[in-house]
Amino acid sequence: MAVERTLTILKPDCVKKNLIGEVTARIQKAGFKIVAMKMTRLTEETAGGFYAVHKERPFFGELVEFMSSGACVPMILEKENAVADFRKLIGATNPAEAAEGTIRADFADSMGENIVHGSDSAENGRIEAAYFFPESDVVANQA
Ligand code: CMP
Repeated sequence: MAVERTLTILKPDCVKKNLIGEVTARIQKAGFKIVAMKMTRLTEETAGGFYAVHKERPFFGELVEFMSSGACVPMILEKENAVADFRKLIGATNPAEAAEGTIRADFADSMGENIVHGSDSAENGRIEAAYFFPESDVVANQA
């Protein structure tokens, strides 16, 4: 199976609930290697650009407002089958439908405030990773 990259964002609700450590520990225990990471606060423009694919959706304004409401922690994760395995680890977008023991089932309050983002394909993983990190910030090749 090929090593893939996926982009996650620990969202503002994750940071506000002091769950950065707990969620990051789950990610690492599940075998993902963090190859880039930073704490940042998105502007409405940056959040809107990241979620541009959703700009016609009725929840777009709410999504942009929430994602720019406080600090967040984007990370690039590497692992074989990273995209699908990460989506399994975090659970369904709607926490009410997320499988027991998943990050969203355990910590998320709603569809909008759902603790973490995960790329939905390997191609989007590459695009989303590049949105936040130049390749020179990726430490994948360090021992
Ligand atoms: P995420 O995986 O970051 O990708 C798009 C985000 O849009 C999604 O998580 C949710 O947080 C948000 N989203 C999707 N559907 C809805 C909805 N119906 N209402 C509010 N937010 C939504």
